[in-house]
Amino acid sequence: MNRRKALAEVRKILAENQIEDATLEGEILLRHILGINRSQLYTDLDNDIKPADVKHLLKLIEKRTKGEPSAYITGHKEFYGLDFIVNQRVLIPRPETELLVEQAISLCQEYRYSTIADIGTGCGAIAISLAVSIPNIKISAIDISNDALKVTKQNCEKHGVLDKVTLLHGNLLQSLPELVDIIVANLPYVREKDMPDKGPLSFEPSLALNGGEKGLDKIKTLCHQAVNKLNKKGSLLLEIGQRQSGDVMAILREHFPSGLVEVKKDLAGIERVIILRLT
Ligand SMILES: C[S@@+](CC[C@H](N)C(=O)[O-])C[C@H]1O[C@@H](n2cnc3c(N)ncnc32)[C@H](O)[C@@H]1O
Repeated sequence: MNRRKALAEVRKILAENQIEDATLEGEILLRHILGINRSQLYTDLDNDIKPADVKHLLKLIEKRTKGEPSAYITGHKEFYGLDFIVNQRVLIPRPETELLVEQAISLCQEYRYSTIADIGTGCGAIAISLAVSIPNIKISAIDISNDALKVTKQNCEKHGVLDKVTLLHGNLLQSLPELVDIIVANLPYVREKDMPDKGPLSFEPSLALNGGEKGLDKIKTLCHQAVNKLNKKGSLLLEIGQRQSGDVMAILREHFPSGLVEVKKDLAGIERVIILRLT
């Protein structure tokens, strides 16, 4: 079978199994098996695929049709233009989280911030994107999961930022040794009742998703702790879920009555990032 035929077959099977973006997903799986990039795939569509690779591809398609996300199957996910190693111990970084990274970079430039803490770092997508993008920055990347921190370390090595990123194990801000200019966090914010028992989300760690009854347990505690961990003119950036902005703004106003609070929408028009700036 050649690559063109394989792509068509994979797309068909995935579409029949109600997998969204069957074309893209099929391409990701085929490229993974062949170990090639997109342009190599499309330049040589008539090349034959070895029978052993076809067999391997069929196995991966079966996993995908059973719901396992492609990123866990391939062990990789692109975020902010960088390739991240992922496994089932970490959340798969989402494109909407890039908004948090963009906002953090622009605040660091505007206010010449030099220290960042990324809380709930997971695979390190936010911390490492910031480390790669901002010169002379020092970042503390914290997670309560030691398994997640192993993946963060692998990604720091891959992107050559171990000199800029310090990995810390701990509960929210408890292990952060000193005040920082900016705290960024994409904490679990899924409401308990919305926690999935099937579908792609059910493959991701509940520790990375479950935010308690209203989805705000971790965010609330972090805001409380942040009072004693932010420098005078510092900022706090939080990713939030749908319809959580009102509650999170109220929490921030309670703890930081004189801070400026702003909400940013993602590309889908959903309020996604809340920014607190101390003045
Ligand atoms: C939604 S994931 C975000 C991962 C990554 N920052 C990203 O944006 O792709 C939340 C992360 O918070 C971590 N986490 C959950 N509770 C925590 C706590 N109390 N203290 C520190 N990290 C926590 C989880 O292990 C998980 O890695």
